[in-house]
Amino acid sequence: MGTEKPVIRKAEAKDISAFVQIESECFNDAWSHAMIEKEIFNNLAHYWVLECDQQVVAYAGFWLVKGEAQINRVAVATKFRNKGLGNYLVQTLVNNGWDLGADSITLEMRSDNEAAHKVYLRAGFKDAGIRPHYYEDGSDALIMWLYRDKKIS
Ligand SMILES: CC(C)(COP(=O)(O)OP(=O)(O)OC[C@H]1O[C@@H](n2cnc3c(N)ncnc32)[C@H](O)[C@@H]1OP(=O)(O)O)[C@@H](O)C(=O)NCCC(=O)NCCS
Repeated sequence: MGTEKPVIRKAEAKDISAFVQIESECFNDAWSHAMIEKEIFNNLAHYWVLECDQQVVAYAGFWLVKGEAQINRVAVATKFRNKGLGNYLVQTLVNNGWDLGADSITLEMRSDNEAAHKVYLRAGFKDAGIRPHYYEDGSDALIMWLYRDKKIS
């Protein structure tokens, strides 16, 4: 990591190329430039980027619908993983969700994604169920939830 403290700010159009790069490192079903553009300008969507030394190295976001935030993406560039940035980003995402009026936050993830699971557990999410063979490759999806009234201060 660089010398400056990581900064988290709202995602903007200028960040799309960084999204594209990080998407390709993180996901088999990586979003295209057009999909990312549509996503970050969707009125229901809220995305933030994390910068280290003015470089976007991670991002995360959710859709907020009727008090329920659904996390769509949490992604940290490969070279910047295992430095606590995922934890920082998800904790900020959660706090921003409450600030925006969410009552609950949910997500689904591959059940064998141990790093993601650790990050979400640390932010207070609880396992809520499995969707068997949910993904195209046959992997199960793990559903997790976090409720505002159970927030630990
Ligand atoms: C999941 C992800 C966001 C985590 O980001 P990160 O910046 O590495 O997260 P952190 O450094 O804050 O914490 C990672 C934790 O997972 C642990 N970890 C990392 N790789 C691991 C592995 N292969 N198996 C088990 N634990 C692992 C780390 O030790 C750390 O645990 P700790 O906090 O108890 O020390 C990142 O790995 C990523 O972008 N992955 C690809 C995209 C993805 O899977 N997104 C989530 C989709 S639901």
